[in-house]
Amino acid sequence: MAGQRKKARQLANEAVADGRPLDWFEELYSQVAGDESGIPWADMCVNPNLATWLEDRCGSVTRQSALVVGCGLGDDAEELVSLGWDVMAFDTSTTCIDWCRKRFPNSSVKYLAADLFNAPPEWQRAFDFVFESYTLQVLPPDLRSSAIKLIANFVSPGGRLLVISRGRDATDDPGQMPWPLLREELNGFCNCGLNAIHFEDYIEHEEPPVRRFRVEYQRRT
Ligand SMILES: C[S@@+](CC[C@H](N)C(=O)[O-])C[C@H]1O[C@@H](n2cnc3c(N)ncnc32)[C@H](O)[C@@H]1O
Repeated sequence: MAGQRKKARQLANEAVADGRPLDWFEELYSQVAGDESGIPWADMCVNPNLATWLEDRCGSVTRQSALVVGCGLGDDAEELVSLGWDVMAFDTSTTCIDWCRKRFPNSSVKYLAADLFNAPPEWQRAFDFVFESYTLQVLPPDLRSSAIKLIANFVSPGGRLLVISRGRDATDDPGQMPWPLLREELNGFCNCGLNAIHFEDYIEHEEPPVRRFRVEYQRRT
């Protein structure tokens, strides 16, 4: 994992320095040529932080349309579809989306190559459930507030959004990519018509341990 993260950081640093902060995702997916061990976030199973939320908290959430932002290799989208949602999942990398389709050839998830910053207008307020994990934290800080507005806008009236990210305090070192988020940054969702209905700040016992924020929002009707 250390070597994969080093490679991803190097690509990210070069792309950010060149003023093309979104290009390195496609570069990384295409360079690993189908070997998931080269993708630091590819666990090839559902995110355990999503799985526990689904078990503990999603009883009251309507299982209709769902959108997965920056879906990576598709495991979280597949989990949602298996639980009865009608799922659309997108990623900026076409290689990543082709990989999802190849991994899950019979899936009813609609996998699409799309850029969050140029998403189809018909997605506005169109999804009952929006799921975002670990995309905001790989975007440089100056893109995050616009990304937050765009993600919030996908949520339908009364719909839910679940966000999972690394977390830090303002006094902590901002660190390297993946950059942990401040709670204050996530409050941006509340300025876009959403209420934070459950905010969790906890340590995930990885090696090394990771501080996570997991936040459930609901659009005001
Ligand atoms: C750290 S990975 C997380 C992937 C997945 N959500 C997970 O938890 O495993 C971030 C993903 O967001 C995608 N991404 C980054 N910027 C994006 C953008 N502007 N629009 C759509 N996807 C984006 C990347 O290609 C990458 O697959």
